[in-house]
Order: sequence, then C-alpha cells, then structure tokens
Amino acid sequence: MEKIYQILSISGTDPSGGAGMQADLKTFAALGVYGASVITSLVSQNTLGIQKIFSVSEKCIISQIDSVISDLKISAIKIGMILKSSVIHIISEKLQKCFVPWIVLDPVIFAKDGSRLLNQEAENLLKNTLIPHASIITPNLLEAGLLLSRPTACNEKQMQEQGRSLLKYGCKSVLIKGGHLNTKNSPDWFISKENEIRFNTDRIFTKNTHGTGCTLSAALAALRPKCKNWETTIKLAKKWLTGAILNANQLKIGHGNGPVHHFYKVWK
Ligand SMILES: Nc1ncnc2c1ncn2[C@@H]1O[C@H](COP(=O)(O)OP(=O)(O)OP(=O)(O)O)[C@@H](O)[C@H]1O
Ligand SMILES: [Mg+2]
Repeated sequence: MEKIYQILSISGTDPSGGAGMQADLKTFAALGVYGASVITSLVSQNTLGIQKIFSVSEKCIISQIDSVISDLKISAIKIGMILKSSVIHIISEKLQKCFVPWIVLDPVIFAKDGSRLLNQEAENLLKNTLIPHASIITPNLLEAGLLLSRPTACNEKQMQEQGRSLLKYGCKSVLIKGGHLNTKNSPDWFISKENEIRFNTDRIFTKNTHGTGCTLSAALAALRPKCKNWETTIKLAKKWLTGAILNANQLKIGHGNGPVHHFYKVWK
C-alpha cells in the first residue's frame, strides 16, 4: 500500500464549508492524505462574504500546535489565514523547532470581496519572520503587489517580475496566481532561483470560485511529499483544482459565489 502522508493545515475556518480550514481538510481527504488542523481564527463567512472574525487566543494556538507536532509525523504544513502579529511570531518560532520538509504559505491578506484582513504591522512580520520559512508562497496578484509595495501586476511579464522580486524575502519559491488577471486564461507562474514555469488553464466561466486559493495551497501541501519536484506537484494540483472548478456548478450551495467541488472524482 502507498504511504499515507500526514499533512497539517494552520488556518482560519469557514462554517459554510467551502474555504479556509474546511476546504483544506476536504482537499486533503480528496487527495488521499491524512489531514490535521490547527485553527487560528473562527470566521463567520459564507458564499456572500465575511461577516465577522473571532480570533483564537495565543495560548490556545500554541497548545493545538504542540498537541499535533508532539504526536503526529507531519510531512508538510499549509499555512493560511493568520491575522495577528503575535500568532505570526508563535508559528515562526514553532517552525524553527520542528523539522517539517515542506511549508506552503498562502499569504492571505485579502478576502475574496477585496477587504483587507492583515494590518501593516502583521504584514511586515509575515515578510520578515514567516516567509523565510516557506518552501513556496502562493500570493494572488493583489497580495504580491502589496508585499512588494508595487502596483498590482496586470500582465504576465509583470507577474514574472514580481515573482522574482518576492524571492528576496527568503522563501525558496513563489507561485504567483493569475486568477484575478483580466484575460481569457488563468495563468500561474512558478518562480525559483533555478526555474520559471508557466502553468496555464482556460478561464472557467463560473461564479462558483469560493475557496480556490485555499484549495490550491492545500493541494500543494498534500501532493508535494509524493512528487519529485514543484513542477510535477503544481501540474497535478492545478489539474485537480480545474476539475473541482469545472464541477462546482453541480453543488448549488448558498446564494453567492459557491464553493468548488472537492469530491468531483469520488461522488457519482
Ligand atoms: N475562473 C477560473 N478558471 C480557472 N482557474 C481559476 C479561475 N479562478 C481562479 N483560478 C485558479 O485558481 C487558483 C487560485 O487563484 P486565485 O488568483 O483566485 O487565488 P486567490 O485570490 O488567493 O483565491 P481566494 O480568494 O480563494 O483566496 C489559481 O491556480 C488560479 O489560476
Ligand atoms: Mg487567497
């Protein structure tokens, strides 16, 4: 039997089930890995947007991380929504102490509706203390621009340039996502010191894209331990995500931007 990898997500929740921790755990299950979870914030959100955010105490986050890492053998961590500077500190300290081969950091700064989730102090700390731990970071166009204090990229040449510039913060690689690009396709660019690779997909015309970002970064964490390199990992993750977006309309969840279909390969 193939080895079952144990993957941890450190993230906020989505009680409507399509994004955040819920999307991460669904992704892990769909891709055949064992999912563990540390919750950083309780978010009242649904397909219409975010209504309220409740933070989880530092003590509680430390305790959850300790429970997981003292017992499980974690092969990859996906880090999603973290809102407070103190929590960014806690997570980077924990990462220094435990050896986990793959760290996927989704630098969640904006919600789907464009509202800012991270204040300036926390953003600086993210750059200086957490990004250096990351094997890969997965900013969308708005987040890449903001991290670099530059205007949002509006074409692929600018995406590539910003991807290269983001390496200066000490992450090993960057996947800059083109979901927000105003084009017929949705290209993502992988940038590392050695490689620059374009991953292109046709843009799917659906309003049901709630949770695409969380789902992609969780898929990268799930698949990286099984794959030879990031190129193969991203190819597999994007192929699976594209199927989940293509099948999203089957679900008919909520009144806004519905979730992608994580189990399109499993449910008949
Ligand atoms: N309509 C679409 N058709 C095909 N692929 C898409 C579409 N929208 C997004 N994607 C893909 O989904 C992934 C997530 O990209 P996106 O830029 O939407 O991230 P995000 O803004 O962080 O998402 P979220 O708001 O869920 O956090 C990327 O691989 C992107 O190319
Ligand atoms: Mg995102």
